[in-house]
Amino acid sequence: MISVSEKRRTAEADRDWHPMQADHRALRASAERLDEMLGRLAAGASAAEAEARSLLEEFRLRLLAHLDAEEQNGILERAAEAEPRFARRIEKLRLEHDVLRQDVVALAAGPAPRAAGADWDGFHARFVAFRRVLLAHEEAENDVLHGAYMEDVGGRG
Ligand SMILES: [Fe+2]
Repeated sequence: MISVSEKRRTAEADRDWHPMQADHRALRASAERLDEMLGRLAAGASAAEAEARSLLEEFRLRLLAHLDAEEQNGILERAAEAEPRFARRIEKLRLEHDVLRQDVVALAAGPAPRAAGADWDGFHARFVAFRRVLLAHEEAENDVLHGAYMEDVGGRG
């Protein structure tokens, strides 16, 4: 039988965590599309430049909205309260949000202009590096939240 506190955790996970996971999936899909498009631009396909810039702006807005939603939702703080052993990891994740914000704003400004045209090759490399950092952040978040919200559910009673 599942205890009352385990049921509460499950309900919180449904309400707070699953929408964030949906955000994470949407962000991953958006980053993948951008990566592919920037790869084509890096290879010299200049026709997609305007579309890439508009996707970059969309990605910036989506990520900023997600980070704000995560912080306003308070899910990380509640996880830290529920599982104090995660508190330091959660604080680190929260600090990473500020770095992600700065980096995505800088990225959305697009590639450095050059006399020979925008440096899409260098920009694609920057985007790939950012995408890797973002993915590692989200995975760390998912791990912590999974540990805080789900670890005690099941396996008992
Ligand atoms: Fe997130």
